[in-house]
Amino acid sequence: MFITVEGMEGCGKSTQCAKLEEYFTRLGFDVLRTREPGGSALGRELRRIVLDPQNTDICSGSELFLYLADRAQHVATVIRPALENGRMVICDRFADSTIVYQGYGRGLDPGMLCQLNEVAVAGLWPVLTILLDLAPEQGLSRALARNTQDKACAAEGRFEAENLAFHTRVRQGYLTWAALHRPRFLIIDAAQEPDQVFAAIIRGLEEKNLV
Ligand code: TMP
Repeated sequence: MFITVEGMEGCGKSTQCAKLEEYFTRLGFDVLRTREPGGSALGRELRRIVLDPQNTDICSGSELFLYLADRAQHVATVIRPALENGRMVICDRFADSTIVYQGYGRGLDPGMLCQLNEVAVAGLWPVLTILLDLAPEQGLSRALARNTQDKACAAEGRFEAENLAFHTRVRQGYLTWAALHRPRFLIIDAAQEPDQVFAAIIRGLEEKNLV
């Protein structure tokens, strides 16, 4: 089983991915928890470049190709081999992030992005995508608070530096995109406490007969 988790900065993706890993491991699955960008050795180098707030002059085209290169490598060397070995994969962000951030956020054509995503994923799509939905004001303030406490997060703050209008487009983009792909998406209100968010995720998985 391949599951992805999406949402804006500060929506609690990492916390929920960790809870999902724990939950499915307890059920007896051999779980691989991974993320984009940065889920492969090459991807970790790309992540440092693409999220460095000092890289203010990356144009939207090169940003796109950095994410796609990360994804192609991740699918080929990490995700697909894990699934072929019978493992379950939980991935923090995947192809939908490109549609939403580079498409709805930066204004690149979603049709073109879908085609390029297909090159990167080579037919591999998640069975379920959990969207943690949160008001952009709330997500940004959580993410910025985390970045002041944690130097490693601050070193990856290139997107947190974007203005509220960008993050509003991202939030709306996610909702629009999820509505277009209803059967694959589970939309969860991420404004609740982490345990409540997780309980809502499990209810959603049960309703979709995935647990
Ligand atoms: P995160 O791992 O802390 O969520 O940070 C990853 C950042 O990269 C986040 O701001 C969203 C952005 N991103 C894109 O713009 N396009 C993509 O395809 C992916 C995977 C992430």
